[in-house]
Amino acid sequence: MMMGKPKIILKSVTKYYDAYTCALSNIDLTISEGEWVSIIGPSGSGKTTLLNMMSGLDTPTSGTININGTDLTGLGQKMLAKFRRENVGLIFQQHHLIPYLDALENVMTAQYFHGKVDREIAREALERMGLGQRLKHRPAQLSGGEQQRVCIARALINDPEIILADEPTGNLDMKNGEIVMGIIKQLVDEGRTLVIVTHNMDIAKQGRRTIQLVDGKISTDSSRQTHNPLETSVGRKANSPPTSTGSARR
Ligand SMILES: Nc1ncnc2c1ncn2[C@@H]1O[C@H](COP(=O)(O)OP(=O)(O)OP(=O)(O)O)[C@@H](O)[C@H]1O
Ligand SMILES: [Mg+2]
Repeated sequence: MMMGKPKIILKSVTKYYDAYTCALSNIDLTISEGEWVSIIGPSGSGKTTLLNMMSGLDTPTSGTININGTDLTGLGQKMLAKFRRENVGLIFQQHHLIPYLDALENVMTAQYFHGKVDREIAREALERMGLGQRLKHRPAQLSGGEQQRVCIARALINDPEIILADEPTGNLDMKNGEIVMGIIKQLVDEGRTLVIVTHNMDIAKQGRRTIQLVDGKISTDSSRQTHNPLETSVGRKANSPPTSTGSARR
């Protein structure tokens, strides 16, 4: 497969939350432009931590992280926030919408922090998500699926090259999950780079590359082996223990 230039480069990334909690252990990982990478693994294996490293929402204890040409090492909170605004779209499982703002205002907030507010563009973004009739609704007046779509509109409003999604359909029913995945799929088709954490194997399978984390380590990376891990160790329950395929590589 033709690969674009490296967009996400993690070298020896280790994260300790405290002396006893090693969430990530010596992660080496390169993700290229236009890739769809699915991150799977049991609860507590470090998936969210890994995503937070890529967005600069959290910093590693050691190791280096380069995203879209920016070395995040040593950047302060202000610079990290600026980096995020300019480079990544974050889609969380918990949507983090501002409760007292309506849908339109929530999307415009992201524009504001990016430096250019345009009500028309924000409105169009929500219309694309099928929310043209919900512009003036506050989060509490929206269904879970609608809230998630507002979140996606907000994440994408500044046209990020990299999309980081943490179980974006985890709270959604099947229909809304399909709508959200349809939108995400289109973004990858348009050339964005996607890293998506998911417990849903049908979603993971849509990407070419699947990485399984176990205990803060990469236990399988489908790009490093000839067979697809989805058909072996991860084909069963997400929280089943790593199998022999898990320790075979690296
Ligand atoms: N802020 C924190 N302080 C201390 N420990 C943390 C913190 N955040 C996460 N951890 C720990 O780090 C480990 C990895 O957590 P993480 O949230 O990355 O897991 P996950 O793979 O995303 O799990 P899930 O599938 O349940 O979302 C867990 O053992 C967790 O308890
Ligand atoms: Mg998580």
